[in-house]
Amino acid sequence: MTAASVTVRAPAKVNVQLAVGDVRPDGFHDLANVFLAVGLHDEVTASPADGLRITAEGRDIEGVPLDETNLAARAAILLAKRYGIEPDVRLHIVKDIPVAGGMAGGSADAAAALVACDALWETGASREELLAICAELGSDVPFSLVGGAALGVGRGEQLTPLEVGGSFHWVFVTSEVGLSTPAVYRECDRLRAEGGTSVPEPVADPALLAALRAGDARELARTLSNDLQGAAVSLRPELGDTLAAGVAAGALAAIVSGSGPSCALLAADRAAGERIAGAIPRSHLAVGPARGAVLV
Ligand code: C5P
Repeated sequence: MTAASVTVRAPAKVNVQLAVGDVRPDGFHDLANVFLAVGLHDEVTASPADGLRITAEGRDIEGVPLDETNLAARAAILLAKRYGIEPDVRLHIVKDIPVAGGMAGGSADAAAALVACDALWETGASREELLAICAELGSDVPFSLVGGAALGVGRGEQLTPLEVGGSFHWVFVTSEVGLSTPAVYRECDRLRAEGGTSVPEPVADPALLAALRAGDARELARTLSNDLQGAAVSLRPELGDTLAAGVAAGALAAIVSGSGPSCALLAADRAAGERIAGAIPRSHLAVGPARGAVLV
């Protein structure tokens, strides 16, 4: 161990398309998940310690577990196990991404912790090994490592990078209370069963991918979609009001971010984003695409 400490930051994400297929035998759902990383970040600092310790500071940290159930701790444990070493590390998490907000904050912490421990312990894991550990930690964690924009299939962990031809300006509206991802998927299944609708194979929308490639915010606004939105709004009806308020404030489109409850408002440009953020409480401007987990 040579370094005194290593700090890595990792971005939040928004799902510009989240197509949810049928539930699989393993309980996960097949997805076509178009991720866009956005410039709202958590930072994880790894320092040598006796045993594994987690500390946190920043926004809404009451909901952050400080034990081995924290995804960042699990990342350190998995990496240590793979290299036959003890996970003796203090992980200090500085949170700016909303907790349980549908913006992959926990996944960002896991990816950042993994990269930080790899550097601290000089394990020299390959990109493929790191991605495999990420996939073991959670469906969204590989994307937090790579950032940019990507299509995730399978349970969302099998990534293909996507080209993005410009910057997109988003306003994220956070909620005081998070939503449980499994609960939202269950509600989606329940609503589908109740409606008796057959579930189509999840596929990426070519018009949406073209909008990303062109950097065309209006076309992206027209093609945004999230199959979990109905379930999130069913569990938290006030999200419908937040989406309507976003459009009334000038957003091109408003969508629930992932499983929610954060809502993502797409703005025409930075000036429009600043106006919308000024009009809506608990909101934050963030630009995508953003880089994946990087040493700072
Ligand atoms: O992979 P991750 O741990 O983030 O998943 C959390 C939960 O979200 C899963 O336990 C499952 O209930 C749900 N999920 C799903 N299908 C996916 C991804 C997540 O049903 N593709």
